[in-house]
Amino acid sequence: MRPSSDERGNPVSTTSVAARDAAERALARLMSFDDALLADLDAAIAADPGWALPHAMKAGFVLGLTDPARLGDAARHLAAAHDGTREPTPRERAHLAALAHGAEGRWHQACRVWDELLLEHPRDALALQWAHQWDFHRGDAHHLRARPARVLPEWDEADPLYPHVLALHAFGLEENHLYAAAEDAARRALALDARVPWAVHAVVHVMEMQGRFEDGAAWLRQHQPAWTDGHGFATHLWWHVGLFRLEALDTAGVLRIVDAHLSNDVLRTTLQRVDAAALLWRLHLLGVEVDGCCRDLVAGWPLADADAGHHAFNDVHVLLARLGARDVAGAEHWLACCAARALGSADDAARANHAPARDVGLPLMRGLVAFARGDFDAAATAIHPLRATAQALGGTHAQRDLIDQTLLAAAAQATSRPAKAIGRALLNERLLAKPATPLTRHWAQQLGLAERALARSA
Ligand SMILES: [Fe+2]
Repeated sequence: MRPSSDERGNPVSTTSVAARDAAERALARLMSFDDALLADLDAAIAADPGWALPHAMKAGFVLGLTDPARLGDAARHLAAAHDGTREPTPRERAHLAALAHGAEGRWHQACRVWDELLLEHPRDALALQWAHQWDFHRGDAHHLRARPARVLPEWDEADPLYPHVLALHAFGLEENHLYAAAEDAARRALALDARVPWAVHAVVHVMEMQGRFEDGAAWLRQHQPAWTDGHGFATHLWWHVGLFRLEALDTAGVLRIVDAHLSNDVLRTTLQRVDAAALLWRLHLLGVEVDGCCRDLVAGWPLADADAGHHAFNDVHVLLARLGARDVAGAEHWLACCAARALGSADDAARANHAPARDVGLPLMRGLVAFARGDFDAAATAIHPLRATAQALGGTHAQRDLIDQTLLAAAAQATSRPAKAIGRALLNERLLAKPATPLTRHWAQQLGLAERALARSA
């Protein structure tokens, strides 16, 4: 019998049960961060080549990787979706419109289209997942929490995707510093389905923000079957394992994580390389020799100058990899390429990346270059004001903590009173946010403020 809707009542235009079911499997994999969804989408397309949605799902998956080199692939999948012989439903047309915005870099508009769609179809998991992902990329903590909250009561708890929606909610709560509620929601999701990586991840972030590095490492070990099974998200969770080791000041352990799970043998996507750069930079700040690792990372990162300026968050990490490799000239060249795009044409000004790149990304990169050149006073005073707006870069609080750690390292090596005062203020903030970890005590010592950290850890 011809299907008229997916398993949650959302209208579909396919005439094939096999195609609908394959797209359903792909949707479940999308929410599980399982890259094998592409094979399911190929199966859906084979069963009904004229159905737009599986092509659109391929486009959305590729766009979400934020890899400028893959934009051509996304455009081809979108063109195939528009070439479909079957008339899309209004819901499917809305997805195509959102993805067209996304492909042109208009990420805010894409999320607004999905918001409208969810008002009528609150169980459209595709809209929810994609909008959540783009909230993450564009640093919209409000919608990370509010959008899943707006739809959650409309879902049947028996729906196999419900734990995934609960996990989205948990992550949004965490990014709004509602740690107890976040951990509760994530644990409820995992009680319903132990294999929900986003729920595992939400708890990881809670533990990271609360300085529970031993709990976090144990949690990831406990839930390893949910996240090591050959999908792209495993690299990010290994990055989190590395962060917990870093908090314990186990730098040798972090290097082993990099070698085994964040080296070129493993890295496939821009987002994975961003994590590798972030971990290596943190080690660099601690004085660990990572030049060779950074050189390998840069060598394996397929980037052309024209790729600069796609996403400021990623661009900063490209710069960090080059600085970590002690290639300051290469970093400055990359910065200039990013600036040309961020300060360039009116077309680029319509992109969501434009303002964050101009207002945060570029000045941050200039401060990082000053740091690499050993001008720690200039680095501290250049980077410090950006803390207030850094969320616009996207990513998580844990990822952007790299900015604070750079400031702590800069202040520790600076000589001016303003830079030293920044270091003291950041340390105060850190000590109130979480117990004094070995990493925080290290920065306290470097700043000559060890007695504060000792008092907090007593
Ligand atoms: Fe994370």
